[in-house]
Amino acid sequence: MSKAKITVVGAGNVGATTAQIIASKGLGDVVLLDIVKGMGEGKALDLAEAKGVYASAGNLLGTTDWSLTVNSDIVIITSGMPRKPGMSRDDLLAKNAGIVKSVTEQIVRTSPNCIIIVVCNPLDAMTHVAAKVSGFDKKRVIGMAGALDSARFACFIAEELGVDIGDIRGVLMGGHGDDMVPLPRFTSIAGIPLPELMAPEKIEALIERARKGGIEIVNLLGYSAYYAPACGAVKMVEAILNDSKTIMSCCAYCQGEYGIGGAFVGVPVMLGSGGVANVLTLNLNEKETADLNESVNHVKALVEKVEKMI
Ligand code: LAC
Repeated sequence: MSKAKITVVGAGNVGATTAQIIASKGLGDVVLLDIVKGMGEGKALDLAEAKGVYASAGNLLGTTDWSLTVNSDIVIITSGMPRKPGMSRDDLLAKNAGIVKSVTEQIVRTSPNCIIIVVCNPLDAMTHVAAKVSGFDKKRVIGMAGALDSARFACFIAEELGVDIGDIRGVLMGGHGDDMVPLPRFTSIAGIPLPELMAPEKIEALIERARKGGIEIVNLLGYSAYYAPACGAVKMVEAILNDSKTIMSCCAYCQGEYGIGGAFVGVPVMLGSGGVANVLTLNLNEKETADLNESVNHVKALVEKVEKMI
C-alpha cells in the first residue's frame, strides 16, 4: 500500500491519543477531524510540532472539513459523548447514535472504500449503526473493544503473577459491557493456559475487574479511559495496513458463528487489509456458551432500541 491515509473523527482524548500513536509509529498520514473549530487543527499542529523533538514520518492535518478526509484508507470514529461517573455505557445510546449516524453518512460520501473502526460507546450498538448507515460490506466495519478489554485482563494477570505482560495472550468475547466474557481457557502465558497458573477464585476476581475496568477509570478520572483504548485502535490499524491477519478479539459481524444469528459482538477474528478476514469459531463449553448468549442478548436488546433512533 502507498502511504496510508487515516482519518480520526473526534479530537478528544481518545482521538488525539490515537492520532499521536499513529504519527509516532509513522503508520501513515493522519487527518484529525472535529466538529469544534480549532480543536482538530490545534491538536494536529501540536502533534506536528512534536515531530521537531521526536521525528516521525506521517503528516498531520487538523480540520472540520470532511472534504480533506477524502479517500481515507481507514476512518476511526471516536466522536461521541464519553461516560461520566454513575453512567453505564448504555446511557450514551441516544446521544451517540445520532453522532455516529451523521459521521457515517459523511464517511460514505468521502471515503466509500475505507475500513471503519468504531470506538465510541455503547460499542457494539454503535458498530451496528455504522454498518447499517454505511451499507458497507460488514467485514469493513469493526468495533474496537476486545483489544482494550483483553489488554486490561492481561495487565491484571501480569500484576498478579509477576510475569511479562508481553507473554500474555487472551481471548474475550461478547459485548463491551459489564457482561463481557473473558475466556480463561483461551488465555495463555507463554503458551501455558491461565488455569494452570492461577486459582479459580483469583481468575474470577480478575475477570470481574476486567469487566468493570472502564468504570474503574471513570471513577478515578471523572471521565473515560483513553490511553489503552487508543492503543487498541492502533493495533487494529496496524493489522489492517500490514495485512498481517493478526488474531485479536474485535466487535465483528457474526451470522452463523456461535449461533449468534446476525449481530456485531466481540469475537476472535483475523484482521487483514480487507478488514475481518475470518471469524474464528472456538469450541465453547456450556458455561462459556451461556455467558456469551447472555451478553449477546444484551447487545441485541440495545440494537433493537437503537434501530428506532436512526
Ligand atoms: C472503557 C470505555 C472506553 O472501557 O468503554 O474504558
